[in-house]
Amino acid sequence: MTSAAQIPAVLLSAARRAGRIAVLTGAGMSAESGVPTFRDAQTGWWARFDPAELATPQAWQRDPDLVWGWYLNRIRGVRAAQPNAGHRALARWGRRAPVDVVTQNVDDLHERAGSRVLAHLHGALTAFRCDSCATPFDGPVPGLPPADGPAEVTDRMPPPRCAHCPGQIRPGVVWFGEALPPGAFDDAADAVRAADLVLVVGTSGLVFPASTLPDLAQAAGVPVVEINPEQTDLSRRAEASWRATAAVALPALVDALYGSSEDDRLEPAD
Ligand code: OAD
Repeated sequence: MTSAAQIPAVLLSAARRAGRIAVLTGAGMSAESGVPTFRDAQTGWWARFDPAELATPQAWQRDPDLVWGWYLNRIRGVRAAQPNAGHRALARWGRRAPVDVVTQNVDDLHERAGSRVLAHLHGALTAFRCDSCATPFDGPVPGLPPADGPAEVTDRMPPPRCAHCPGQIRPGVVWFGEALPPGAFDDAADAVRAADLVLVVGTSGLVFPASTLPDLAQAAGVPVVEINPEQTDLSRRAEASWRATAAVALPALVDALYGSSEDDRLEPAD
């Protein structure tokens, strides 16, 4: 168990003083929920698959059935996963203080833990829309049973057709080469500049423009602290880098701030 003594002093004192906190999360935030990251050796998606084949507009044009099938599998994985202790600690912190959560993750684990997410920089898996007229789609998705339903997804799957035009339904994620959702980056930039502490949790910091947010914070004089079991580019620039996982570090930090309370740890009812 991580004790308060292991929390970097600069983090604990900044967190105690902070009126506003911004937390930037990446795939490592959900790793302990069993959702694969992208770049971790062996287990990361991009260690096993070529992003150019699955996460670009060109891949979608070339082979929509392959791309749709892969995203259906990812959605099923997320639906089967539960928020981990790190997600729940952030939600608990957010009930006690103004915490702006900005995530690169396309899953909904922050929300299911009880956090309000200020910005999903890379969209959301299930924010389906037409690839032609952009009309949102909330119809039935073949191959996507409820979370407790039978596993039926095969590798390839034709995407549903749009009811309004000849287009096809696509996942609500941002692919490489595409623009971020309108307003998402500006909201994130405003949040990191307005914060008294920026925590960067579980991201390799290799994808632009999310990777620039810690610099924007530091340029505004806001301390940046990283939580990541591995070294990243940010490690050298951050005020502190805590080599711990999200599900260990965040509950330890929030317990140090507010004391441990079993009641507070309960997940909110749906
Ligand atoms: P990456 O896979 O690039 O990086 C994951 C980071 O999480 C690494 O630095 C790991 O060391 C760290 N990590 C692993 N397990 C952890 C744990 N239990 N607790 C804390 N940290 C842990 O994922 P991202 O940085 O999120 O974009 O990737 C950024 C973007 O690249 C993604 O949003 C996605 C991807 O291509 C799109 O799909 C557009």
